[in-house]
Amino acid sequence: MYRIPEDLAEWAQQRIEGFAVEGFVWGSGPAHPRIMLVGEAPGENELVTGIPFTGRAGVELMASLESAGLTRDEVYITSAVRSRPYRWGEKTNRDGSKTRRTYNRAPVMQEIIAHAPVLDREIKDLKPPLIVTLGNVGLRRLVGKEFKVTECHGRLLETPVLKWDEAQGDFIFTEERYKIFPTFHPASVFYNPKTRAWTAEDWKRIGELLELGE
Ligand code: URA
Repeated sequence: MYRIPEDLAEWAQQRIEGFAVEGFVWGSGPAHPRIMLVGEAPGENELVTGIPFTGRAGVELMASLESAGLTRDEVYITSAVRSRPYRWGEKTNRDGSKTRRTYNRAPVMQEIIAHAPVLDREIKDLKPPLIVTLGNVGLRRLVGKEFKVTECHGRLLETPVLKWDEAQGDFIFTEERYKIFPTFHPASVFYNPKTRAWTAEDWKRIGELLELGE
């Protein structure tokens, strides 16, 4: 199993202090993964289990992995942000009363920047032969905000990736090139059922690429 150094995890947690986030879920997987998965941020469920993609989206993701001939143990799972971004909302109870509770939300850019050194380090250490981005957050974090998953999913990109440069206060491209395969976030099927067929095709293609050793 691979883990980022403890002091880096501590630093990342300090960098994100002051934002509406909670907890810290470590990336999970072997030191020599067949692929790296880059999601968005952990949700409520992952905070309880301490393991990425263990909620409803995780069930979808595990089925996709299986369709590509992969198991959880062979892949390294991480995301743009490693804490759970939340917002406060109100839930209406059966008796009509209201309870204040937190909901998951997508991370904002400042939170992505706060945790950028974690993903940068994971990529540098693991040198994944293939990086599969799950949804727009992971995709844009690595290749730039002009990319859209609906436009570029299912096609292999060979490209430098963005890493955070603290001195410049900006993301810059790595010298190394990586193989990036964009696909949808596994939760996208819950709000846009059309993505189910596209996601299935993408994962079939990932299986083929792995078989070809590409
Ligand atoms: N979405 C993510 O990006 N990561 C998780 O662990 C769960 C949901």
